[in-house]
Amino acid sequence: MTIVRARVMHTPRDPFAEPDALECFEDGAVAVAEGRIVAAGDFPPVGGAHPDATLVDARDALLLPGFVDTHVHWPQLGIVGAMGLELLDWLRARTLPEEARLANPAYAGALARDVVRGLAANGTTTALVFGSHFPAAQELLFAEAERSGLRIASGLVVSDRDLLPELHLAPDAAYDAGLELAQRWHGRGRLRYAVMPRFSLSCSDHMLESCGALASELDGALVTSHLNENPEEVRAVAQRFPWARDYLETYERHGLVGPSTVLAHDVHVTDSELERLAAARASVAHCPSSNAFLGSGIFPMRRHLDAKVAFALGTDVGAGTGLCLLNEGLMAYQAQMLAADGVRLGPAHLLWLATRAGAQALGLGGRVGDLTPGSEADYVLLRPPADGTLAAALARSESAEQALGAVFALAREDSVAQVCVAGEPVYTRAT
Ligand code: GUN
Ligand code: ZN
Repeated sequence: MTIVRARVMHTPRDPFAEPDALECFEDGAVAVAEGRIVAAGDFPPVGGAHPDATLVDARDALLLPGFVDTHVHWPQLGIVGAMGLELLDWLRARTLPEEARLANPAYAGALARDVVRGLAANGTTTALVFGSHFPAAQELLFAEAERSGLRIASGLVVSDRDLLPELHLAPDAAYDAGLELAQRWHGRGRLRYAVMPRFSLSCSDHMLESCGALASELDGALVTSHLNENPEEVRAVAQRFPWARDYLETYERHGLVGPSTVLAHDVHVTDSELERLAAARASVAHCPSSNAFLGSGIFPMRRHLDAKVAFALGTDVGAGTGLCLLNEGLMAYQAQMLAADGVRLGPAHLLWLATRAGAQALGLGGRVGDLTPGSEADYVLLRPPADGTLAAALARSESAEQALGAVFALAREDSVAQVCVAGEPVYTRAT
């Protein structure tokens, strides 16, 4: 058994439903054995109960559950920061040409390594990773993900109309390629397969139907795509699918909306769609930095809460501005502050959205996302650079909430000291 002594915080309960959902142990400890959390609490009782445990003294660090990124595109790391365009122009001009470069396995392999390392370096232990259009590139991503030790769900992205023809596959070929990848990777170690039509705008009904068929074939697979991101996109989908009453129905018709579905953005959603998302127990990946970067709009968080639609954070790199869920939490906070009917969020909400809410969206609630005994020991140790702004702020913070607020505002990749999955380090910052 190992005991990590640190300032420990987590949100085992939903702060949108309960007050005091943030649990903090100032002189805290997490006891880990065989990859699982045995105890989390104040150091004196936890340490006292296990006198023979190996002690890791991280009193200068903050220990949080590992972050969960519910939406990130691995082919897009190289175009982070492509400014000046809204969604459809950004896809045409910057994003899809970059994604086409993944036809080259050498380019794709190096990128897969950098992205997976980047996730871990930012404290992310679990991610739903939007894939490549090229099966060979996607194979390389799965191989890197397996080597990394992270919990990754990913899959082949499919499109068969519009945008960039080099990225198209015929529906039957898409089904076959997806099935082949899933047979190799789905359920292997910490990896899972996710079925991913890019979005309805780039898919025919036949393609969406083939995605539905693949999803129903794979036990425990996720389904993910985009929904209601941008007004021009929503109008174009309505034109392309004259039979559909709204965007969501284009996925519903083909059996793609259920408890294992995660749909990104949902900024321009109707009340009927919210009702149906809730009834289906589907989740939304809320990507606030991307929503701001592409000028897509402000996420209607209050309407999602009122409708009881589950949502969690996604970085949405490359429209998002980085792989750091702490930054994403800050952006969510700021966007709600600017919205006319915004939700007043606090640090506990942000931590919940970056951890446990994401775990639930990906079907891993109760296994990861908080530090409850019995959970897998996925955690991140944050140790701010000694001479930096965050260290100065933390030295003066007078409560756990204040400290956690400072962490969301100021902690980034350079504060991530170590990241563990099932108790084993997957990333240790070079000192
Ligand atoms: N909709 C379809 N593809 C994409 C993408 O790559 N990024 C975002 N933000 N939206 C999309
Ligand atoms: Zn996306």
